[in-house]
Amino acid sequence: MSARILDGRSIAQEIRREVRLEVGELTKRTGSVPCLATVLVGNDPASTTYVRNKVRACEEVGIVSVRIDLPADLSQEALLHEIARLNRDPSVHAVLVQLPLPPHISERRVLEAVLPGKDVDGFHPSNLGGLLAGSPLFVASTPLGILELLTRSNVAVEGKHAVIVGWSVVVGKPTAFLLLQQQATVTICHIKTRDLGFHTRQADILVVAAGKPGLVTGSMVKEGAVVIDVGVNRLADGGIVGDVSFSEVAEKVSLITPVPGGVGPMTVAMLLKNTVQACRLACGAAGRHGVEVVR
Ligand code: GUN
Repeated sequence: MSARILDGRSIAQEIRREVRLEVGELTKRTGSVPCLATVLVGNDPASTTYVRNKVRACEEVGIVSVRIDLPADLSQEALLHEIARLNRDPSVHAVLVQLPLPPHISERRVLEAVLPGKDVDGFHPSNLGGLLAGSPLFVASTPLGILELLTRSNVAVEGKHAVIVGWSVVVGKPTAFLLLQQQATVTICHIKTRDLGFHTRQADILVVAAGKPGLVTGSMVKEGAVVIDVGVNRLADGGIVGDVSFSEVAEKVSLITPVPGGVGPMTVAMLLKNTVQACRLACGAAGRHGVEVVR
């Protein structure tokens, strides 16, 4: 079998077109233009690229973006002060602090400082807890992007065995809960999991977010599975690869995301959707959240 490619770029483009229309309608109805503040501490090249892409995507759909670049030696107190200022600013609807932060700053303290109603990353404990309870204001963009990719590619989730490799708060855990909510049977594997291949071979849907190039090989997947590769690993030659050995695995499975061009563009598209939702919340125009997680 040779896999069909799940083209995140074209699906993300479709979502951006929809978001552009939503921004226009919302502005017409409420007079508010959605505004995302991105906070970047230091000049890590990968983070700088991600932030640049997010800012560009905002501009393309009519979302205002405020980019705040801060020095790597900024104190934690100064960063918390900046976040408090953005929380208070009524013209800013959404606040995103790009991770990772320099080692002298506690990510937990910083993420807890973002107002849950502006937390478009969905990393605040009240949004993470809300996901568990079925009523988050925001869910992280990458897990949302994965679910949207599956939905728009007509991959049914209900009753399937979904195996997730990676237990991060950014991807693994929220993806597991979203899939569980869609009535998949979910297994979460991680760094201490014994015989990873035993688990991954059970997967109808395999989501790999471990940050290890080549972790999942052809012998570790089931014929006909759907494989979502969230890995972004930079090689010495400047190339980017995922966590899955693409050519081997694509021989066996039915659907697979490429890296780049799979999950990455979906993350940005869902961030835009969350930012529009943050603006709706701020001006009292929010209907139900785009992700229905309550059953
Ligand atoms: N660093 C890697 N992924 C993400 C993300 O989704 N959001 C933020 N804020 N930082 C990240």
